This record gives sequence, C-alpha cells and structure tokens, in this order.
Amino acid sequence: MRVSSVVDAVIEAPVVSSFSRIGFDVRKRLDDWTALDTYDLTDHVAVVTGATSGLGRAAAEQLARCGATLVLVGRGAERNQSVVEEMIEATGNPSISSVAADMGDYEQVRHLASIVLADHDRLDVLIHNAGALANDRQDAPDGTEATVASQVVGPFLLTSLLLERLGATDSSRVITMSSGGMYTAGLTVSKLQMPAESYKGAEQYARAKRAQVVLNEMWAERFGYLGIFFHAMHPGWADTPGVDASLPLFSKIMGPLLRTPEQGADTLVWLAADDAPLAVNGKFWLDRRQRSTHKIPSTRSSDTSERREKLWSWVVETAGYEPTV
Ligand SMILES: NC(=O)c1ccc[n+]([C@@H]2O[C@H](COP(=O)([O-])OP(=O)(O)OC[C@H]3O[C@@H](n4cnc5c(N)ncnc54)[C@H](OP(=O)(O)O)[C@@H]3O)[C@@H](O)[C@H]2O)c1
Repeated sequence: MRVSSVVDAVIEAPVVSSFSRIGFDVRKRLDDWTALDTYDLTDHVAVVTGATSGLGRAAAEQLARCGATLVLVGRGAERNQSVVEEMIEATGNPSISSVAADMGDYEQVRHLASIVLADHDRLDVLIHNAGALANDRQDAPDGTEATVASQVVGPFLLTSLLLERLGATDSSRVITMSSGGMYTAGLTVSKLQMPAESYKGAEQYARAKRAQVVLNEMWAERFGYLGIFFHAMHPGWADTPGVDASLPLFSKIMGPLLRTPEQGADTLVWLAADDAPLAVNGKFWLDRRQRSTHKIPSTRSSDTSERREKLWSWVVETAGYEPTV
C-alpha cells in the first residue's frame, strides 16, 4: 500500500476530517493533483444543472475557464441570465448559455432536453448537481415529493432524453452530485417519499441521495456499453448558500472547517475533464478517489438487486419514459 493510501484511509475514517477542508487539503498534497486550469475542454459541450449557486456555479465557472461550451440550468430565467453574463465576464469564455427548468417538473425537463438537442450536436458532460434539502414536504407538479422529483426522477428523465447524443459523443460523462448524507440511508422504494406528517428533511434528502447513487451504478451497467461514463460523487461539506439556508446551525458551528465551493466542486470538474475516471464506470468519488457507497451494514443489506430493479421500474414509470437507444 502506498503511503498516500494509508494517510488517505486514516483521514477517511472519521467523517469530520474527511468531509471538511482538512480532507481536501491533505489529499490534494498527497496525490499531487493536476491543476484544473490545465485541462483543455475547447469544443466540449457541458450541461450543468444547479449552476446559479454554490457548487454548480463553481464547477461551471471552472469548466468555462477550461474552454467548454456551457448550458447552465437553474429555475429562473432572469437569475440564469445574470449568472451567464457574470460568468462570461469573469472567464472571457463567450460560449455560455442557459435554460430555465425546474428539475422536478418533467415538462420543463423535456423542454430543456429539446433545447440542448437542437442547439448542440455533441454532449460531452451532463452534470446533475441541482439539489436542495427542504424542511417540509413539498410536491412536484405530478405529486411526487419534490426532493425525489428534482434529484431522482427529473435527472433520470434528462439522462434518458439525452442518451443518444451522449452515446454519439466520445468518452461522454454523466456525473451526479450526491451527498455524504446518503451513507445514513438504506435503499428504499416503498419509503422513498416521506409523508408530510412524519417528514424529516435530512432523512428525505438522504434517501433521495442514496437512490441517485444506486441509479448511477445501474446506468453504468445498462448503458456503459455505449461508451458513456456514469459517475457519482459527494463534495464533502462546503460553504454554500444551500447549506446556509437548509442547515444554518451546522453552517455556523462548522463554518471554519467547511470547504469553499471551489474545493467542493473540484472532483466534479476533475470527473468531467480528466482521463483517469474513464478506466472505470458507475463509481462513487470523493476528492478524486473512488469511495465505498456503504459505511454501515444496514444500508449495505438494504441494497438488494430486487430493490434495485424495483427502483428502476418506479423511476421509469414516474418519469413516463423508458430509456432506450
Ligand atoms: N454544499 C454541501 O456541503 C453539499 C454537501 C453534499 C451535497 N451537496 C449537493 O450539492 C448540490 C449543490 O448544492 P449547493 O450546496 O451548491 O446548493 P445551492 O448553493 O443552494 O445551489 C443549488 C443549485 O441548485 C439549483 N436548484 C435547486 N433546486 C432546483 C430544481 N428543482 N431545479 C433546478 N435547479 C434547482 C439552484 O438554482 P436556482 O435556485 O437558481 O433554481 C442552485 O443553482 C446539491 O445537489 C446538494 O445536495 C452539497
């Protein structure tokens, strides 16, 4: 075992050192990371959801600095447009546009896909980053709980609708931003959506994030043969407007230890740009290394092939679309 692997394992065990900026700083030095600015993504097209704030915005800005053509997705057209203008100004990259879509509204997801397909004849990177943790149950237009609709079903539908274009582009990548919170949740389909009476935002969020990671593996198994690379990751804990709004106490207490948005987004950009992740498919990452998707036995035992099949079928039915090529 290399020294760097031993040190990595030591900081991975306690969550605080691993997820905080300590983990980031130590691993960056341990593995002598390639600087993100050195990647050349000229002519590469990337769609980034949740690109108006926090991690998605930091990732999109770095991809723009690397020369990528970007489609930014957020819910409000006006907000999107000002982010586009600021990003063009900050990076000098004029190839940035936006589409307004709520990822929990499947009609809007279909509209988003149609614009991407009409405007771009290739698609190198699709980043499913949009997400939030709600304190009370909210419903998407189809009645699905909003966290599940916007972070599980909507992204599944978008990948499905863009699958052929992804498959026609060499070494394309679909990257899902999950959360370390998913380590606390098992795979469930019957209890994937929490009812309003017993709703707990953090628990609902963790269940949705677990489903994302399982679906990522299933996409790789089912459609990896098309030459599309599916990866999921978690960013550790980063200081973003989203964390501030949904977990203010956590944000206050952990403040000095939180990663910057750029640090949280580092692996996202690396997965989009580097060749190393193309050696495997369907994996889960933190700080440019593959990570286990389970840390406790109960979540591992929940993750059965029967439940996986059930999850896939439920998402297909809810999205109203069966992915095929
Ligand atoms: N920060 C962390 O420590 C942390 C840890 C683990 C996982 N994550 C994950 O990282 C991702 C980004 O989080 P963040 O901390 O950067 O949060 P953030 O600052 O609140 O940014 C969230 C982004 O998602 C967009 N968004 C939210 N709901 C959406 C929806 N239904 N449809 C389309 N866009 C939507 C927002 O855009 P508009 O408001 O403009 O629509 C915004 O651009 C999330 O998936 C989150 O679960 C973050």
